[in-house]
Amino acid sequence: MEKFIIHGGARVGGVLNVHGAKNSALPILAATMLADTPAVIHNCPDLTDIDYAIKILEHLGCAVKREGSDVTIDPRDFNCCEIPEELMRCMRSSIVFLGGILAKANKATLSAPGGCKIGLRPIDLHLAALKKLGMECNDCGEVLECICPNGLHGTRINLSFPSVGATENIMLAAVTACGDTVIENAAREPEICDLADFLNSMGAKVYGAGDKRIVIEGVKALHGAEHTVIPDRIAASTYMAAAAITGGELTLKNVFPMHLTSVISAFEEMGCKLSVKTEELCIKAPERLRRLKAIHTMPYPGFPTDSQALFMAMASVADGTSMFVENIFENRYRHVEQLRRMGADIKVDGKMALVNGVPKLFGAAVDAEDLRGGAALIIVGLSAEGITEIGEIEHIDRGYEAIEKTLSILGAKIKRREFNESGAVR
Ligand code: UD1
Repeated sequence: MEKFIIHGGARVGGVLNVHGAKNSALPILAATMLADTPAVIHNCPDLTDIDYAIKILEHLGCAVKREGSDVTIDPRDFNCCEIPEELMRCMRSSIVFLGGILAKANKATLSAPGGCKIGLRPIDLHLAALKKLGMECNDCGEVLECICPNGLHGTRINLSFPSVGATENIMLAAVTACGDTVIENAAREPEICDLADFLNSMGAKVYGAGDKRIVIEGVKALHGAEHTVIPDRIAASTYMAAAAITGGELTLKNVFPMHLTSVISAFEEMGCKLSVKTEELCIKAPERLRRLKAIHTMPYPGFPTDSQALFMAMASVADGTSMFVENIFENRYRHVEQLRRMGADIKVDGKMALVNGVPKLFGAAVDAEDLRGGAALIIVGLSAEGITEIGEIEHIDRGYEAIEKTLSILGAKIKRREFNESGAVR
């Protein structure tokens, strides 16, 4: 069992290259199986979720070669349309393989997806949309048996919520469907645009990604292509938070500031000074962070739910009371209990949380219960007095490349330690 041990109080600063976006790389890897020749994906982050995606591709018959952040996928021996339960349970994004497998084989067998425990995270929108495209399935048991008796056919899909995963699944299923597909109320996240760019470089005809309406003209076949994954905007905001809470000054390179507009405004509201260039961003922390009036998480371009826990960590030690309203996931305050163990004063009432900033938090033994909530515990641990010990860090490894090494290079005192069953260091 591994834990992070943090000695709080060291400033985080310097220069950092942000790794590629996990949430872009996952659907892009799923898209590679649609081609009839190999694809090369650059800037693919080294994360456990990416390892699972590669295992799924290999299970489906694709040959995958990884050299640093370059991943080559040869889909020519695709020969399987079933994802075993152990791979499905590893991460929620495994569901994004459904659209691609159907496009490739007209049938798929999958069990329920896993992932962070941040709410129910149903897949009803995915299934309803794929059914409109021609899929039939028994969606009541543990295993989803899907089949497209007449292939996939273009249609009009009106999403009741702009689900990121459902939009991606529809895109993957529709690019080689017969006829045109229109997605109304599509998700507008930068990762959707990145997927559309990759699909178009493979020969697809996807128009309007980034807008509420996406139009997809089905094509007969797709070929492999080379693509560079966009920078990870959530990892970027995590390292910015590390600098902001410790009084540091940090320059991020390989970052797209236009993807961080709402987050940049929130850092400024807390008193940070930001300077922005095309692919570079510099943040300088104030003496003490100021409170945030109100953060409402919203679909992009609104404030990202994935950054909510990070800002709550900062608000815990800011001057004044901050309000948070979580509108995307119904169980995304799991970090609150852990922050309280470190001395945070947070009251939760349904979707709303009131954070009364205190001058200092104190190191404690806490657990990362989900990916971003776990990252928030690191952020607090960096500024807390004393030693913070974070368990269940496998959740954090899903979304950050060796976060302890990156933060150490930037001046933090954080180490990964292996513990045995009785709690002794190995
Ligand atoms: C993606 C991101 C995740 C981010 C989220 C919202 C990836 C791998 N993950 O997750 O980091 O927090 O977008 O920006 O890209 N919903 C349904 N039915 C469905 C699908 C979704 O009710 O069929 C609900 C979910 O339970 C949730 C909300 O819609 O409450 C948003 O989900 P969605 O946008 O689909 O998020 P993900 O694609 O799972």
